[in-house]
Amino acid sequence: MLIGVPTETAQGERRVALVPEVVRKLSGRGVEVIVQSGAGAGAIIPDALYEAAGAKVSTDPEAVWSAPLVVKVAPPSDAEVAQLSSGAVLIAFLNPLGSAQATRALAAAGVTAFAMEAIPRISRAQSMDALSSQSNVAGYRAALLGAEHIGRFFPMLMTAAGTIPPAKVLVLGVGVAGLQALATARRLGAQTTGYDVRPEVAEQVGSLGAKWLDLGIEASGEGGYARALTVEEQAEQQQALTEAIKGFDVVITTALVPGRPAPKLVTAEAVEGMKPGSVIVDLAGETGGNCELTTPGQLTVEHDVTIVSPLNIAAEMPEHASQLYARNVQALLELFLDEHGELALDFDDEIVAGSAIVRDGKIVNDAARAVVEAAA
Ligand code: NAI
Repeated sequence: MLIGVPTETAQGERRVALVPEVVRKLSGRGVEVIVQSGAGAGAIIPDALYEAAGAKVSTDPEAVWSAPLVVKVAPPSDAEVAQLSSGAVLIAFLNPLGSAQATRALAAAGVTAFAMEAIPRISRAQSMDALSSQSNVAGYRAALLGAEHIGRFFPMLMTAAGTIPPAKVLVLGVGVAGLQALATARRLGAQTTGYDVRPEVAEQVGSLGAKWLDLGIEASGEGGYARALTVEEQAEQQQALTEAIKGFDVVITTALVPGRPAPKLVTAEAVEGMKPGSVIVDLAGETGGNCELTTPGQLTVEHDVTIVSPLNIAAEMPEHASQLYARNVQALLELFLDEHGELALDFDDEIVAGSAIVRDGKIVNDAARAVVEAAA
């Protein structure tokens, strides 16, 4: 089996789908890898390291895209899909619940495509869980961004010039990214508090040395995710949070509901109530943001509060983000390949079937089909 690794073309995308460590492991089991020259440049991985790991490096994108199996990070553009050979298999983030574009183009091209974000979150698939690996990067970076943009220390300092109290950091939405943000802020010395609508998270928050903010609204949904709140619950939540947020120096928001716009947790009134100089790091910018005053992708100052909303934040730490992603892809490939390194897709397997969005040109994921139909 030949696997193509193209250079990512989406704006700001510095990650790469396979790293030399993983190429070496794949080469050892009979797989050939062809990497587009410069594919690792954003993650500071020179071509020579891929070659040393056993990959062929090509300056010809066509040679890479015509491989029977292509692995990448970001959803492919229409132009990229057009370069896939017929019957090819693609593995990437495809954003099947957020955008119809990739699903539609892949179906029209008659290929088979697997979305990393659609891999079922079951124990057996933990090593393949790229949503988690990239959320870990995001949560870590979010805490650092909070520390960078606030003109205050995170840790308590007792100095000859007097004592400085620790910064108070609140994390709203404590999934994988939120837990990592809490852990990182605490390592920097902040006093941390977590809030989520899934009450089962309280214990995890406590185990990270953080306080649990209990607003009494519970909204656990399907598959371990949160459900969207009713209009009444949302109003109640916003009101309670507007009060609670006032006392915090940094608020990091990561709240998401799959396939829906990000819930608005932080109102304009809440921002106005924060101390001047406070910071909001809004990780939900890609689906509209958790704060009413967020401008996705921008840094703005509203009521003397700095609001940062980086998009695709995992790409800002491309080296480790790529390494973790590549290991996720490798784990998935272990399931896709037989002992000779040839593709042997078993669609009776829950992970293979669950992650398939398009099979031989047919959309096989109900949620992705609904998104395509709604966009038509
Ligand atoms: P996510 O990225 O979908 O959402 C982030 C957080 O926002 C979640 O904790 C969610 O409850 C919260 N949220 C949504 N709406 C909210 C609102 N209105 N107010 C406050 N918080 C709100 O979540 P993520 O990180 O993808 O994790 C989702 C689930 O998947 C979790 O239950 C996690 O434990 C589970 N999971 C399972 C894994 C496995 O078994 N392999 C691996 C990783 C995660």
